Amino acid sequence: MRLFYSAASPFVRKVMACTITRGIDGRIELIPTNPHASLPEFVANNPLSKVPCLVTDDGLALFDSPVICEFLDSIGDTLPLFPVVGGARWKALKQQAMGDGIMDAAVSRRMEAAKPAEPARDLFMARMKAAVDRTLTELEGEVPTRAVDIGSISVACALGYLDFRFAHEDWRGVCPKLAAWFEVFSANPGIARTVPPG
Ligand code: BEZ
Repeated sequence: MRLFYSAASPFVRKVMACTITRGIDGRIELIPTNPHASLPEFVANNPLSKVPCLVTDDGLALFDSPVICEFLDSIGDTLPLFPVVGGARWKALKQQAMGDGIMDAAVSRRMEAAKPAEPARDLFMARMKAAVDRTLTELEGEVPTRAVDIGSISVACALGYLDFRFAHEDWRGVCPKLAAWFEVFSANPGIARTVPPG
């Protein structure tokens, strides 16, 4: 399998964390990709020009991260990261949505910060920050368990991205229970081995 990736992307981290957790990371060939360059081979596989994009051994190009991660669950013989039925499934999917939503908003805010300041940009960035802050507060009230599933992996990658790009903002001060969970959860190989480049 080939993975179009950028080391800074939290969504790529999430996919890599899933491959490591499932013990199949050795089957992935990494293709460094600048999604903003939209090179022909990349957009031929993902017309949205976004990483991550996984090309399966059958040549099927898959995106975005929830689709890729669910595909990875069909490979290997460890327990699925997507609980199959019941309350555990909906809890994990909701946590995935919250983690992905934090990543979406934080990445957008980071991209906007590179543009010249103007009122519309500042308003947009403030809206993105408010969305992240509200979701962190929600997670503080329903901290993930120690179970390694698609929900907890997504939340951990989101928190890791905040540490990576917004280290000056103290989310731990507002969310002590979430911070304590993250500290313990970060020892899992899928998270420990995918810390963003310094
Ligand atoms: C970043 O540099 O923060 C970044 C790069 C690629 C995708 C998402 C985020």
